[in-house]
Amino acid sequence: MEVTVSVIKADVGSVGGHTRPSDELLAAVQQRVEAERGGLLLDARVFYCGDDISILMTHQRGLGDEAIHGLAWEAFRAGTEVAQRQGLYGAGQDLLKDAFSGNVRGLGPQVAELTLRERPNEALMILAADKTEPGAFNLPLYLAFADPMYSPGLLLSEELHAGFRFVIMDVEHTEGDRSITLDAPERLYDIAALLRDTHRYVIAGIWSRKYPDEQAAAVSTTRLRQIAGRYVGKDDPVAIVRVQKIFPATEEFGPPFALGAFVAGDTRGSHNLPLLPVPVNTPASTFFCHPMVTALGFSMHEGRLTGPVDLFADPVWEPIRHRIVAKAVAMRQQGFFQPAMLPISELEYGGITARLQRLDAEFRVEATGD
Ligand code: 13P
Ligand code: 13P
Ligand code: MG
Ligand code: MG
Ligand code: MG
Ligand code: MG
Repeated sequence: MEVTVSVIKADVGSVGGHTRPSDELLAAVQQRVEAERGGLLLDARVFYCGDDISILMTHQRGLGDEAIHGLAWEAFRAGTEVAQRQGLYGAGQDLLKDAFSGNVRGLGPQVAELTLRERPNEALMILAADKTEPGAFNLPLYLAFADPMYSPGLLLSEELHAGFRFVIMDVEHTEGDRSITLDAPERLYDIAALLRDTHRYVIAGIWSRKYPDEQAAAVSTTRLRQIAGRYVGKDDPVAIVRVQKIFPATEEFGPPFALGAFVAGDTRGSHNLPLLPVPVNTPASTFFCHPMVTALGFSMHEGRLTGPVDLFADPVWEPIRHRIVAKAVAMRQQGFFQPAMLPISELEYGGITARLQRLDAEFRVEATGD
């Protein structure tokens, strides 16, 4: 059976800062979505990571469907009304346009979608991050899908021997988004050369090479700044990753995420801090607005989900979190000095740019002495 999995995510308001949605806001979103279970939707889940609400939907309406996207938009609008009533911070923050126009792409919410022909034991992982950018998934996904030091299945399973195909999006191209398709392992160094620049080049999709019709992963790529023309919070990505059998196993994503690689995000979206794996429904806090990621494991049959299993909740992750938090504390001890604070080109707040413009008038060109 062909099923489309859609994850649409937005920040429409949070309690006492950029922490988490209120229970009432969540209930309003959930209510809208639940009403379509058995109608538009085969199944659905609503959860949050920090101040971002993810709506996971399974259905048979294909990619970019107006009714599915419209449902998510309406659910987020209902959530925004609650946020406004409660005076929540950033009410409607990620709904950047007033009117829905057939698809939420370009309107603010993040979208990851893929259509799959269901395997008899379809296993999926949903990743949702807060206080970071879509490129934050570049390194963990590269390691899981292309590096046998992290992903032993690339050596141990013949299903994975041919490697994976990466579709990489250039999200800063001036004439609109453009993408490139590169095969690992043959083009590994080309893939690496792009993915290291996490602000500009973002994994959008990953495909099996042995079974070219089988998509392994879909990642959201929206950059809010491109839509709004100003800082409106971080781009907080979501991803759908199919696991097991012809794809890396669930446990092969553990070591890449345990790395706690530095990513852009954190306080005012203006710092580099390590990506912290946390349990689902974890609020952001006074701890700098640390970049964080949740992972939910599901099984699916005829579009109906069993789960989630909270993949970063078990005790093994506690000592790993301690190590990653220690890295974060060490980095933030150097305050605004790079690389703790982002370089000007990536700084999404205008404060420093405005200050530098004023200072520009005070500069004097030195006499050359001849
Ligand atoms: P079991 O299914 O026997 O637990 O082992 C699966 C496996 O090899 C995990 O990597
Ligand atoms: P989000 O609202 O996108 O999570 O980012 C808020 C922020 O920049 C906190 O410092
Ligand atoms: Mg927010
Ligand atoms: Mg957020
Ligand atoms: Mg955000
Ligand atoms: Mg088993």
